[in-house]
Amino acid sequence: MTETLLRGRVLSFHDEPLEGDASSEAFTYIEEGALLIRDGKIVAMDSYEALRLGEGRNVEVIDHRPHLIMPGFIDCHIHYPQMQVVGSYAGALLEWLDKYTFVEEQKFSNQGHPERIASAFFDELIRHGTTTAAAYCSVHKASVDAFFTESHKRNMRMIAGKVMMDRNAPPNLLDTPQSGYEDSKALVQKWHGKGRQLYAITPRFAPTSTPEQLEMSGTLVHEFPQLHVQTHLGENPAEIAFVAELFPWSRDYTHVYEHYGLLGSKTLLGHCIHLTDAEIGSIADSKSVAVFCPTSNLFIGSGLFDLGRLTKSNVRNAIATDIGGGTSYSMLRTLDEGYKILNIQGQRYHPLRSFYQVTLGNARALSLDNVIGSFKQGAEADCVVLNAGATAAMRVRMETVETLVEELMLLQTMGDDRSIAEVYVAGKASKTALD
Ligand code: GUN
Ligand code: ZN
Repeated sequence: MTETLLRGRVLSFHDEPLEGDASSEAFTYIEEGALLIRDGKIVAMDSYEALRLGEGRNVEVIDHRPHLIMPGFIDCHIHYPQMQVVGSYAGALLEWLDKYTFVEEQKFSNQGHPERIASAFFDELIRHGTTTAAAYCSVHKASVDAFFTESHKRNMRMIAGKVMMDRNAPPNLLDTPQSGYEDSKALVQKWHGKGRQLYAITPRFAPTSTPEQLEMSGTLVHEFPQLHVQTHLGENPAEIAFVAELFPWSRDYTHVYEHYGLLGSKTLLGHCIHLTDAEIGSIADSKSVAVFCPTSNLFIGSGLFDLGRLTKSNVRNAIATDIGGGTSYSMLRTLDEGYKILNIQGQRYHPLRSFYQVTLGNARALSLDNVIGSFKQGAEADCVVLNAGATAAMRVRMETVETLVEELMLLQTMGDDRSIAEVYVAGKASKTALD
């Protein structure tokens, strides 16, 4: 049995906080707090004193004061084969894909390359406080094996899948409806449920799949209804026009996925920027999740995610980096850019809501809130330790910070990997172990 008592200020959400309500029922914040962890699970979150006198006596204490301990961050859309695409000079989406991304992803058929990048990828996630991600691999089966071998070794809660794509990309990046189906199925059987690993059915997006492949993807969803599905939707006007050309019978882009049975409560739809009311209705009715990718949407010039419009229609939402269209692995940087995108549209993104989103909110979007995203008893002990005074500029700003809400706002506005003091993966210290 392994037991640890993490001492510090602890913050965990149990619901979405109402706008600006810092006295909310939605979270627990304990100033002189502690977390008792046993065998990788949360046993209790309480005051340090109570735990020290009770269940936590004789347990090794790791003192993180004055830092803030929260559940590990969750990234709901990221491409691990795009580590070496970040910051590529391109115009909009289709040029960016053709010129850089499809070129880069071909390297994942090279011996040793997926393994090297997978290792660097998980180092980077941990450095930035991200303990769970929904990730795209490349079209190559070996890219998925490399990914899950590494995440399983680190005991991280990960969701990933082999991209299926059988047209409109270089020949080296194409599978076929049959091979995409068979490879995905073999990977599900090999990895899904192994330790903390979860498989996601991953047709890249409608432009790179034939109707036959989307049909086969729907068959996989039917055969494995417990799996996540991830794809892209409504990111860019030229992409949308291309979909209309390729699927002339379809009411709109969303209807293509709907037609093939790909929408549902486990479906993650990256971007969802340019949508009609009918599409929003379909997404809401199916309980699919719209994934906001702020740094990517700004970098690729895709547009402004309209969170207000989507939530008004009861669309579930999540937030993500979308590396390599995105420009930072940091969920703090992501929240900062998200704040700006919403502010420019006259919408508010209160720091309590944004920190809810990168923890419990994203866990709910993944239907994993029973295991991650909070410090409720029995949850998996993935934690991030946040230092709002990590840089000289932050320390000067901290002199005027008086409340938790102000501290969170500072963390998301000026914070990055330097603000991540430590990361626990299933109770195991993992960031300082990288140094
Ligand atoms: N649409 C299809 N593939 C991709 C991708 O890799 N990144 C982004 N941002 N959009 C996509
Ligand atoms: Zn993406």
